[in-house]
Amino acid sequence: MSKIAVYPGSFDPVTNGHLDIITRAAGVFDQVIVGVLQNSGKQPLFNMDERVQMLKNVTSNLPNVIIDCFDGLLVNYCDKQKATVIIKGLRAVSDFEYEFQMALMNYKLSPHIETLFMMTNSKYSYLSSSMVKEIGRLGGSLDDLIPPSIMTQVFNKVNDLGR
Ligand code: PNS
Repeated sequence: MSKIAVYPGSFDPVTNGHLDIITRAAGVFDQVIVGVLQNSGKQPLFNMDERVQMLKNVTSNLPNVIIDCFDGLLVNYCDKQKATVIIKGLRAVSDFEYEFQMALMNYKLSPHIETLFMMTNSKYSYLSSSMVKEIGRLGGSLDDLIPPSIMTQVFNKVNDLGR
């Protein structure tokens, strides 16, 4: 039976830290479904189509990675996709408390689904989508923070050029 994992998130936009986790998870599982959350409390800068398209762009070399979107409870989406594992990246201790709470709640809701944490590569431990947007907006370099193939698109959007 093939092992399917879901890697959920907002990906607003995808960063090199996300891509590192996706690539490593793709080496462990038969299939990795990157699930982009539709309706979170957050108001995303990039719309769903843009986030999905950027993820497809940067994972095009990974044949066992699928990009999809979901709404509602993550565990219900995992069941729909026949995934038994949720992958989460952990950057720092500050991530831990919230992730711990979510993992326990997801386990309470669906004990047949395991949450597995992957430690981020140390060179991305300070990286987040929010930082990328702020640095880009304030004119800093996004080199090494996001994949080169989405650089122009992200830069234009955070600077209001791509709207
Ligand atoms: O990239 P993010 O915004 O930190 O990702 C958060 C995400 C999508 C993993 C989380 O908000 C989520 O799982 N949302 C789905 C709704 C849900 O299942 N809530 C209960 C989790 S305890």
